[in-house]
Amino acid sequence: MTAVVRKPAEFRRACEDARSSSLRVGLVPTMGALHEGHFSLIEEAKQRADFIALTIFVNPLQFAPGEDLSRYPRTFESDLAGCRDRGVDLVFAPEPDSMYPARFQTAVSVTDISKPLEGEFRPAHFKGVTTVVAKLFNLTGACTAMFGRKDYQQWKILARMAEDLDMPIEVVGCPIVREPDGLALSSRNRYLAPSERERALGIVSGLRRAHDAWKHGERSADRLGSLAAGPIEQAFERIDYVAAVDPDTLGAPSASPNDLLIAVAAHLGTTRLIDNVVLGQDPRP
Ligand code: PAJ
Repeated sequence: MTAVVRKPAEFRRACEDARSSSLRVGLVPTMGALHEGHFSLIEEAKQRADFIALTIFVNPLQFAPGEDLSRYPRTFESDLAGCRDRGVDLVFAPEPDSMYPARFQTAVSVTDISKPLEGEFRPAHFKGVTTVVAKLFNLTGACTAMFGRKDYQQWKILARMAEDLDMPIEVVGCPIVREPDGLALSSRNRYLAPSERERALGIVSGLRRAHDAWKHGERSADRLGSLAAGPIEQAFERIDYVAAVDPDTLGAPSASPNDLLIAVAAHLGTTRLIDNVVLGQDPRP
């Protein structure tokens, strides 16, 4: 049985009840439009916890004016069916007013690792993410929370926030789920026209080139970054970044790194895609 609650206080109460029955709570925060990437987080949560809570909230705070807040896909009924099929115990789908009443005026932000990569191109984005996830963590209470490494920087920031603020939350980063041809699943892929869907594969070609070169011993971050950039520059109209950085600090890597994050953000028409691979850790995308 999947229960649905709309009010923050009801959600808190249901999580407390689960814990008082000695169940470990597993939390899966989402913005809905659920796909196999989200479902993989549910499966991972089931391995680690007994009571699975999934949240669906298109968080206005993390969208800048002009981004896709108003057209972000909202597919509540099929999301709920997906949650039922996969044995989610509780769905929390609040209204914006109950998360951000008119008197709301607090923000949570993580400094250094929010600045590069996504932070450069979406300067207010992570402050919106950390604020809403801090609220979700506080409402849920002690739990194991699942995030996808698709949003690699988001995962790192949220793990830092939980540790820095002594939140009783175990933050887990889960592998990226891809289509058979390698495109990372994303709620935004549905915006792509067929010709854009083809060109989107430029990202995975770039990541594969870097992965292959790393396997053959290349360790220069500059060269690995350029190798990845090649196919992306060919396929995409506009690139925000193709970066080769340290996977922990998201800053400059050492001269001979043991692992290296290649992270990409690029635009096709009105759609912005992100993807990444950690060389030295992840399998070939
Ligand atoms: P959303 O984009 O809905 O993603 C919810 C979770 O699913 C995130 O942790 C994201 O990394 C993960 N995810 C998305 N695509 C994935 C894929 N292909 N493989 C594995 N995991 C994937 O990220 C957000 O929502 C929001 O910023 C949120 C954290 C809910 C705060 O509003």
